[in-house]
Amino acid sequence: MLVSIDAHTNELIAEMHASKYGLRIFEHILTSLTIVVKPSYQGHGVGKALITAFLSEVYENWPEVGRIGLESCSMSQQSIGLYKSLGFVQEGRMVNKTRNADSRYEDSLLFARTRPNFSFTLQVSS
Ligand SMILES: CC(C)(COP(=O)(O)OP(=O)(O)OC[C@H]1O[C@@H](n2cnc3c(N)ncnc32)[C@H](O)[C@@H]1OP(=O)(O)O)[C@@H](O)C(=O)NCCC(=O)NCCS
Repeated sequence: MLVSIDAHTNELIAEMHASKYGLRIFEHILTSLTIVVKPSYQGHGVGKALITAFLSEVYENWPEVGRIGLESCSMSQQSIGLYKSLGFVQEGRMVNKTRNADSRYEDSLLFARTRPNFSFTLQVSS
C-alpha cells in the first residue's frame, strides 16, 4: 500500500494498493491494483505520481513480479486514461461486473502492465 499526503496540511489525499494471489503459480503477478484520489485533488497529477512511485518500488525491490493487473470501470475515462498513460494495456472486458450505487450494471475492463524485459521463460531446476 502507498499513500499520498499533502505536505502543507498533512491530509491523506490518495491511497493505492495491490496484492499477491498467495499461490506459487501466480508468484509473478501483482493483482487488483486499486487507487483512489480525494475528489478535490483529482486531475492534478496525484494519481499518476502515486502509481509511478509504486512501479519504481516494485521494479526495484520485487524482482519476481513480471505482471501487474487491475480492473477499471468501463465508464471512467479518468481511470482508463490514467492506466493507458502508464503503459497498462487492455486485455479484456467483464460484462456487467459492477452494480453501481444507482443499481445500474457496468462492465469492467481488464488491464495489465508487463515489466519491461521480464523473462517469462520457464526456469527448470534439476
Ligand atoms: C482515476 C483517478 C485515480 C485518477 O487520479 P488523478 O490524480 O485524478 O489523475 P492524474 O491527474 O494523475 O491524471 C493522470 C492521467 O490520467 C489521464 N486522465 C486524467 N483525467 C482524464 C480524463 N478525464 N479523460 C482521459 N484521461 C484522463 C491523463 O492521461 C493523465 O495524464 P496526463 O495529464 O499526463 O495526460 C482519480 O480520478 C480517482 O480517484 N477517481 C475516483 C476513483 C476511481 O475511479 N478509481 C479507479 C477505480 S477503477
